[in-house]
Amino acid sequence: MRTPFIAGNWKMNKTAAESAAFVAEVKAGLDAITGVDVAFCAPAINIPAVAEAVAGSKIGVGAQNMYFAESGAFTGECAPNMLTPYCQYVILGHSERRAYFGETDEGVNKKAKAALAHGLTPIICVGETLEQNEAGETNAFVSGQVKAALDGIPAAQIADLVIAYEPIWAIGTGKSATAEDADQIIGTAVRDTVAALYDADTAAKLRIQYGGSVKPHNIAAYMAMDNIDGALVGGASLQPSFIELVQNAI
Ligand code: PGA
Repeated sequence: MRTPFIAGNWKMNKTAAESAAFVAEVKAGLDAITGVDVAFCAPAINIPAVAEAVAGSKIGVGAQNMYFAESGAFTGECAPNMLTPYCQYVILGHSERRAYFGETDEGVNKKAKAALAHGLTPIICVGETLEQNEAGETNAFVSGQVKAALDGIPAAQIADLVIAYEPIWAIGTGKSATAEDADQIIGTAVRDTVAALYDADTAAKLRIQYGGSVKPHNIAAYMAMDNIDGALVGGASLQPSFIELVQNAI
């Protein structure tokens, strides 16, 4: 019932020309893989080039951030209706944005509501630090992030968003959570929290990704878990072997 979804988060990598060349290289290979949704989330300035490059394929396009206001004096930001001509998705609350750019739970909630109002699918990121993990605080912390992000969002819109659980200590480190641990945290801290906030049916419709050092060789183990519906992939989405990763996901 939940279509697997693999999203590449390119972070601050590739120029517009490099992005278009990369898409040209992987497009046919990705397009041939059915039964999975795929998207590339690019830096804002490269989004039009990526949208042009993926045209005619099943590959979706996402942004890596967005502001919640419609327009105005917000230097450096992009409004929802600037993204909608090109994007279907927008990553919100990535841990790098929370850590380096002051992103708050409250801001993520406002952005998620604005994205949904504009027909964009938010990919809302949650996840604990190494210290929180070692102190046994993971479930309580992640559950709190989920509650804050979804505050005021009606049950009918839960199927229109995605939550990505990304333990911060696993991002870009090559140190991934075990599939069993990721499934347990996603099941309890994310899906059970959504079931408690809404109901079991609503929680069953929510797509939840794992993120943090997902590679072609370990994706299958995550996808075999009941609660994991896909992955948010950083480093491994920059390489042509991303095709193999998506292939191994289904
Ligand atoms: P990584 O990044 O796959 O390079 O660990 C994941 C992410 O930050 O979304």
